Amino acid sequence: MAGGRGAFNSRFVAVMALAGSAIGLGNIWRFPYMVGQHGGAAFILVYIVCSLFISLPVFFAEGILGKSTRLGTFGALKKTAPKWRWAGYMGVLAAFVITSYYSVVGGWSLDYFVRSLSGGFRGLSFADSAGVFSDMTSSTVEVLAGFVIFLGLSALIVLAGVDKGIGAFSKVMMPLLFVMIVVIVVHSLSLPGARDGLDYLLKPDFSKLDGPAIAAALGQSFFSLSLGVGCVLTYSSYVKEGENLMATGLWTALFDTVFALLAGFAVMPAVFSVQGLEPGAGPSLVFETLPVVFSRMNPVVPVIFFLAVLVAALTSSISMFEEVAAWLIDEKGVSRKKAVLLVFLAALGLGSVCALVPRVFSACDFATSNIFMTLGALVFVLVVGWMMPKPAARKELSSGGVFFDIIWFFLKWVCPVAIVAIMVTNLL
Ligand code: TRP
Repeated sequence: MAGGRGAFNSRFVAVMALAGSAIGLGNIWRFPYMVGQHGGAAFILVYIVCSLFISLPVFFAEGILGKSTRLGTFGALKKTAPKWRWAGYMGVLAAFVITSYYSVVGGWSLDYFVRSLSGGFRGLSFADSAGVFSDMTSSTVEVLAGFVIFLGLSALIVLAGVDKGIGAFSKVMMPLLFVMIVVIVVHSLSLPGARDGLDYLLKPDFSKLDGPAIAAALGQSFFSLSLGVGCVLTYSSYVKEGENLMATGLWTALFDTVFALLAGFAVMPAVFSVQGLEPGAGPSLVFETLPVVFSRMNPVVPVIFFLAVLVAALTSSISMFEEVAAWLIDEKGVSRKKAVLLVFLAALGLGSVCALVPRVFSACDFATSNIFMTLGALVFVLVVGWMMPKPAARKELSSGGVFFDIIWFFLKWVCPVAIVAIMVTNLL
């Protein structure tokens, strides 16, 4: 069975695919503006603590479910805890919704990459830059074209299969992505005013750390590690039998966090280098603020930057796409080709609406990150922590020792309480 579903043929490929899923728009686009809105270094500190003690156990819960059942999200829950299989539908649905609106932002980055190729940011002022963004988002043809091409690229990679498509693409692109972001960081740090950006990222201001900021840090950590909808579960169902899932998870989280910090170091010093630009600009930070910074730089810089955004977005979108396709393949018995086509067409529908109606876009983002992902994560830790025998979980993680006992304690007791607390904070 496992062979027929495809597999990642080495630890390196598995880690690159999982890191590919994790590292995406969440790191380059969302993380810097969240840091900007919630007080800089203090937010980063909370983010790292949340990632270690809450997100990592959730990651392991998903990994255990996927690896032990060798099925996608719905099948894994049905097999392990039949009463909770509704959460499997919810996970697949959430992955589908995220694929749709995520591909819209993927389309924007494609658009910006093409613009940067033709030197489109030269001599741009801040007012013009806001104009570029709103012109793009209000041009139906432009937004739809970017979105459709991006979604089509994701479909092609998933169509090529788990190993030859997803594995091969991630294995080549992820190392390149690190090189690209490091080049940008080095450049950003050499700008005048970079020190202020660094201070902002490194000196904590605890006065802004309220309940919502902490909830946002955990939400960001879940989003960044692709948790709560079953992406990690699905990818884990493709790892090799003897794979040490503990090590795979630790590497993935490490790469993801390092990359988010690098993105912060790429973006913030650049923002601070131009007077009058705001680190707390919010979602428009990368698409409005940065082009102004880029307008004064060597034109190669924005090309590398937006290529990095595009690649990072693609390696993530394929993980959600694959999850939905895997559900069709495992549960409905359709071929990969047909599954990919169906997901593509459905996402084309919802994504087009997201692309054209901002309120639908925000509603999709809000529902997935504040409700589906947290609820999904809660189900995963409850099912593994309370319905699976501890030795079976230990075997799947391939980890003995006290480290597992610590993870288990957090998974079973701390995660459920923390997740419920965050859900309440988010909905109040
Ligand atoms: N983690 C990706 C990012 O940071 C996005 C992503 C992929 C995701 N799969 C997910 C987010 C599943 C939530 C759930 O951009």
